[in-house]
Amino acid sequence: MQLPRPAWLCFLLIFTAILVEVVHAGKLKLCVVDSQHTAKKIKWICQKLKDDPESKVECSVGNDRFHCLRHLIHRESDFTVLEPEDLFATYEAPEYNIFVTNELRFFSCDKERYQMVAIVNKKIKNTSDLRGKNFCHPGYEPTEYWNRIFSTYFEKSNIVPECELDKTLIENRISTLSDYFRAACIAGPWSPDSVLDTKLKSRYKNLCALCENPAGCFSGDKYYGREGALLCLTDSVGDVAWVMLKDAKEHFKEQNITTDNFSFLCPDGMTKPIDFDNPCVWISRPWPVVVTRRDAAERVASLMRSLDPEKTHWNYDLIQLLESYHVTPVSTEILGTSEDYLQRFPGFVSANSVTSCRPFRTVTWCETSNVQDKKCRWLGNAVKVYGIEPLINCIQETSREACMEAVRTHRADFFVAKPEEELQARKKGLKPILFAVTSKTKDVGNLAAVVMKNSPYLTLKDLKGTSACFAGFRSIGWNTFAAYARNFSSTDRSCTDVETIANFFKDSCVSDLPEKDSTLPNNLYSLCEHEENLGDEDRTFRCLASGRGNVAFINWNTVTSNTVGLNSSDFRTLCLDESMDDGEPCFLACTAFNTVMVHENISETQREELYFMFLEIDLLFGRNYKGQTPAFSLYGKYEEKSNILFSEKTQRLQKDISHMHRAKRYSEIVDDLLRDVPCSTASLVHPYICQILPFMLTLLFYRCFHS
Ligand SMILES: *[C@@H]1O[C@H](CO)[C@@H](O)[C@H](O)[C@H]1NC(C)=O
Ligand SMILES: *[C@@H]1O[C@H](CO)[C@@H](O)[C@H](O)[C@H]1NC(C)=O
Ligand SMILES: *[C@@H]1O[C@H](CO)[C@@H](O)[C@H](O)[C@H]1NC(C)=O
Ligand SMILES: *[C@@H]1O[C@H](CO)[C@@H](O)[C@H](O)[C@H]1NC(C)=O
Ligand SMILES: *[C@@H]1O[C@H](CO)[C@@H](O)[C@H](O)[C@H]1NC(C)=O
Ligand SMILES: *[C@@H]1O[C@H](CO)[C@@H](O)[C@H](O)[C@H]1NC(C)=O
Repeated sequence: MQLPRPAWLCFLLIFTAILVEVVHAGKLKLCVVDSQHTAKKIKWICQKLKDDPESKVECSVGNDRFHCLRHLIHRESDFTVLEPEDLFATYEAPEYNIFVTNELRFFSCDKERYQMVAIVNKKIKNTSDLRGKNFCHPGYEPTEYWNRIFSTYFEKSNIVPECELDKTLIENRISTLSDYFRAACIAGPWSPDSVLDTKLKSRYKNLCALCENPAGCFSGDKYYGREGALLCLTDSVGDVAWVMLKDAKEHFKEQNITTDNFSFLCPDGMTKPIDFDNPCVWISRPWPVVVTRRDAAERVASLMRSLDPEKTHWNYDLIQLLESYHVTPVSTEILGTSEDYLQRFPGFVSANSVTSCRPFRTVTWCETSNVQDKKCRWLGNAVKVYGIEPLINCIQETSREACMEAVRTHRADFFVAKPEEELQARKKGLKPILFAVTSKTKDVGNLAAVVMKNSPYLTLKDLKGTSACFAGFRSIGWNTFAAYARNFSSTDRSCTDVETIANFFKDSCVSDLPEKDSTLPNNLYSLCEHEENLGDEDRTFRCLASGRGNVAFINWNTVTSNTVGLNSSDFRTLCLDESMDDGEPCFLACTAFNTVMVHENISETQREELYFMFLEIDLLFGRNYKGQTPAFSLYGKYEEKSNILFSEKTQRLQKDISHMHRAKRYSEIVDDLLRDVPCSTASLVHPYICQILPFMLTLLFYRCFHS
């Protein structure tokens, strides 16, 4: 049969498509995490894997390990590497179908990365003897492999916490410990906030009393850390030490100490003689694992089994990608779900249910979009599996305003506002407790009064009667100028921001002003011209550059970033007064990227609880996470989308930013605006009087006439 030409072509195309599909299906997708430490490696190894026709693997890239986990769940990747905590997020979630194929072991014979044991001296026969004894602890400072799950497991398993409502969780934990033991050495920071750290250490002194330098209680102490806790025990300073099994084994051998005078304290409450081959382990930390989905499990497992770095280049490259140091992938004996796998580590599984206080303390975060809600929920997961407390709950509202309302009515505990929302939030009875900031000067939001270089004006006051360009009605620039202008004269102050600005400038253009709003003075839009599609800031900059306005209230970054093709050296800023002009730009206000806002009447304990929680989150999931890749990146992208929950430029969260910049904090400007000052209502009263006067005169006239 003779097929017409197009049909042949069609066949050929389909055949090619099938062929491509088959070849494509042959490559397994490995999800790798792109971080500051791995970026280089990923870039060139992934390219090699892609170019190598023999390679059976190609990369997909996530920006944190939880992202790669979601990649697996959504079938965008076939396998990835997770830390055990990450894996725990899929425990009791069989619908994710996560399977574990390999452990990435550093020592191929060790079944776990480390095991925690409690070693006691002869004074302790069982757990009932623990009370009132001396405790040697390696410290709470988190490292790549050491987090609250492991550092607090022993105390949480043995001591019933006292949970006073007027104390933060961290203080409850420390105070419980302080009451229980006679003394301890827990050196190093207890909290990332040094003020709190000092406060707690001076309030619960006995927990530092065994340190070589009790007043310091620093991480440099003789009894600090893994080795320090053992020394503390074998120097007869402490009665019980919470240590890693392998460290203990080494310590006793190296120091030539007989184990006869010590024993293991076991989870069943009893002690047994020290035999390092037969220890009493409380909790152990699994190795990082290679995980996949059920449907790809066989293929991934067989790929991993056949992996031999000596054999081919791509095998070698793949192993490089799996981990940074030299590891041996060891297959799990049975290919099982994350739950099957984790059940081999009973202590690790139970650690997640040992919280410090019951009921769990949770805080509720209010957000407004589906993607924010999803990111918030994954953060909540990450917080839980990494042992941070309180736990995070997420609620979604339909608008930003509804979220402010939710905080006001205590349905939510906090809301992350943008700077332009701060005034509204404050008016609703919310207050800021934390600011998302950066130390990169070019990213800092600095509001300035920008004029042409050759303009005759020297200070803000000189602008009286000129023309101004604002980036929006009640925008940051508007509010800031209103706050300054209100102060220019102490007598004859206008009562509203609209009057202040309408009376100060002859003409202005306020970008995005509600169209022909008849309640607003005309001169607020007299300067506006139809502009092509520019953002409010750029449009406002143009308003100045075109010569329509004498001044523009914009972010100095808008000027220096040169996005609208203007040269920043043609512009300068105005200072409040000449004495402040030192040649550097003058800024009227600096803004944080975001502000964590809470109910204004929140208790001090609640405020601290939130603050400490965010500090810990920042430490683990912020810019300065420990290790090669972040488990979760709070400020980074979520599913390719930027600025979800916090601005992507955030470097850290800070309680106070007043000392950071030359300018006033925008929050202070907002404070200032909310403060009542005497003002003259003259301009408002005036039209009213005019209307009522004829009537009153008539009345007067009438009465005079009739008397
Ligand atoms: C624990 O040891 C003490 C003696 O040190 C003893 O009096 C007590 O009965 C023991 N408790 C248990 C549960 O074995
Ligand atoms: C270790 O201790 C034993 C006896 O306790 C002693 O015979 C031996 O010489 C010691 N070794 C070192 C290196 O100190
Ligand atoms: C072990 O205990 C015994 C008796 O309690 C004591 O004589 C000996 O000095 C102790 N050994 C060490 C190394 O502390
Ligand atoms: C906070 O407390 C003050 C004084 O009791 C009260 O006037 C104010 O309305 C409270 N704020 C909110 C948002 O409820
Ligand atoms: C306005 O004056 C008050 C009182 O002197 C002062 O506290 C405030 O900081 C001033 N505001 C601005 C924006 O300069
Ligand atoms: C901006 O202007 C200055 C001086 O007028 C000039 O030296 C500089 O090259 C200009 N920069 C740009 C990007 O045009």
